[in-house]
Amino acid sequence: MASLNTLLGPLLALLVASLAAASASNLHNDFDITWGDGRAKILNNGELLTLNLDSASGSGFQSRNEYLFGKIDMQLKLVPGNSAGTVTAYYLSSKGSAWDEIDFEFLGNLSGDPYILHTNVFSQGKGNREQQFYLWFDPTADFHTYSILWNPQRIVFSVDGTPIREFKNLESMGVPFPKNQPMRIYSSLWNADDWATRGGLVKTDWTQAPFTASYRNFNAEACVLSNGASSCGTNTSPPASSAAANAWFSEELDSTRQERLKWVQKNYMVYNYCKDTNRFPQGLPPECNMA
Ligand SMILES: *[C@@H]1O[C@H](CO)[C@@H](O)[C@H](O)[C@H]1NC(C)=O
Repeated sequence: MASLNTLLGPLLALLVASLAAASASNLHNDFDITWGDGRAKILNNGELLTLNLDSASGSGFQSRNEYLFGKIDMQLKLVPGNSAGTVTAYYLSSKGSAWDEIDFEFLGNLSGDPYILHTNVFSQGKGNREQQFYLWFDPTADFHTYSILWNPQRIVFSVDGTPIREFKNLESMGVPFPKNQPMRIYSSLWNADDWATRGGLVKTDWTQAPFTASYRNFNAEACVLSNGASSCGTNTSPPASSAAANAWFSEELDSTRQERLKWVQKNYMVYNYCKDTNRFPQGLPPECNMA
């Protein structure tokens, strides 16, 4: 018995270790901590990343890679308790004055009051396309998956696989669409109590600091840029490897997911620039008239 146990122990340990290695992404490989003087950390052999905010500073990280199209998933667990005044931003952005950007921003709140998930799309330096949502769960109790599908036809924001927003390529109507500038992933946790919670009425309670947001299970099926060349070949053709594996490149919302999108927009949307006629006295942006 003893000899069997001594043999099985190490074998099992080896098996478990190799399974874990196959399933978990290593955040060390994909991200660099960029600011916060020790307030951002990659932990547990690359399985977990945490950002911290205290009265002296927030913190942030960015992806090592630049992407030009992709399907990018990350699990986030947001600042729990009284998170009023804090903002956790998680977004894709290119560089320069005519930059493109695809944003998730999580606006904190008092304990028990709902976070707002703020989204925006910038193309060529112009945003003003905010849509905001409540979530149908407590985003601080557990990790949830926040995804960006970005292909040449559309950008889809999803939460746990449920689409919450679609921004279609409407270049044919003169609406610029992000498709030429590679973007990096950026994330930060910072204090924005001048506007974030109830429009800035509720301030950050620093007695609750440090505030912590956590990240894990990053997954990117994407075209990666290196030395100006895309791993997918040209910018307009799908990745060269198996078509099935790269279905994201031409993915669209089927009728089931369109129904889910409508459900979220009907029940959880709290702001939609396309409904804000006061803000656009000259008329709503053209993409708004394409229901
Ligand atoms: C915070 O809670 C208040 C009260 O329920 C709500 O009006 C607001 O939309 C919530 N979210 C933010 C980020 O202010």
